[in-house]
Amino acid sequence: MSQTAVYPGSFDPLTKGHLDIIQRACRLFDHVIVAVSNNPGKQATFSVAERIQMVESVIHDLPNADVGTFAGLLVDYLKTKKSRLLIRGLRAVSDMEYEFQMADMNRRLYREVETVFLMPDAQYTYLSSSVVKEVCRRGASVHAFVPPTVARMLRRKFGRKDNNKR
Ligand code: PNS
Repeated sequence: MSQTAVYPGSFDPLTKGHLDIIQRACRLFDHVIVAVSNNPGKQATFSVAERIQMVESVIHDLPNADVGTFAGLLVDYLKTKKSRLLIRGLRAVSDMEYEFQMADMNRRLYREVETVFLMPDAQYTYLSSSVVKEVCRRGASVHAFVPPTVARMLRRKFGRKDNNKR
């Protein structure tokens, strides 16, 4: 039976750390759906359409990856996709409390679900979407931290000139 795994997140914006997890998941599972959360209660910097565009820009060379979006409970989305596998990236011990709480709740809501934690490459341990936005807002180049399409979208969002492309 083919295994579909769902990798959910805000991806606001998608970083190279997220991409590292997507690539690892694609090597492990038959089919990976990168699921962009649509949470009207949480103010995102980028729209759902923009975040989907970010994911699309990195999965074109990953034939077993797809992008999707969900609102409401993640476990309901998994059921619609006939998946029991949830992927989450675990960077450092500091992620554990939040991640274990979420994994525990998801298991209570959907007994068959398994959360699989993947560790990104060490260079991404302290990389986060919020830190990337912070440094971009203050004028630093973000090309080392995000894929090129995302870097362009960040520069546009924060009104930076395109004089530091790379
Ligand atoms: O990238 P993030 O912000 O850490 O992703 C968090 C996300 C979107 C995966 C999480 O907030 C989520 O699953 N939201 C959907 C609501 C839900 O199902 N909540 C119950 C589990 S705590």
